[in-house]
Amino acid sequence: MASNEYSALRRVPIFACLDDDSLSQVAAVATEFEAPAGQVLAELGHPGLGVFVIEEGTVRVEPPGEEPVELGPGEFFGELAVLAETPRTARVSASSPVSGIAIRRADIEQLINREVTIAAAMLREVAQRLVDLRHG
Ligand code: CMP
Repeated sequence: MASNEYSALRRVPIFACLDDDSLSQVAAVATEFEAPAGQVLAELGHPGLGVFVIEEGTVRVEPPGEEPVELGPGEFFGELAVLAETPRTARVSASSPVSGIAIRRADIEQLINREVTIAAAMLREVAQRLVDLRHG
């Protein structure tokens, strides 16, 4: 990822507090992705190969037995299969043209271990999603 992309990474809350050095570590392992509306980005029950961070557009998350959830710019998905070492817990598909970055499983695990601000921001967001599930 080119260094002029760092400004896009800085707008993502889980990366916002990183210094230039740490941000360059993220950029080094990030792959840009683009998907048209309707494309499935994560399939329920499939192995989780990594985490996605949305920069533009929206996705629809369909956890079985729960209301669908819409995620947009600055938000991430795909962390549960990585962190809980489980298959994908929901189907996630683009609900508009969407673009962002993908980070492979081994790389996001390493970033989480090295960068406490990434780990803390992800933990806060996952906790918030649990609260939203319980209290709508
Ligand atoms: P993962 O299980 O790897 O793949 C599907 C993703 O959908 C999951 O990680 C989360 O990122 C996301 N997800 C699953 N359930 C919810 C939910 N209730 N609210 C928001 N996001 C969810």
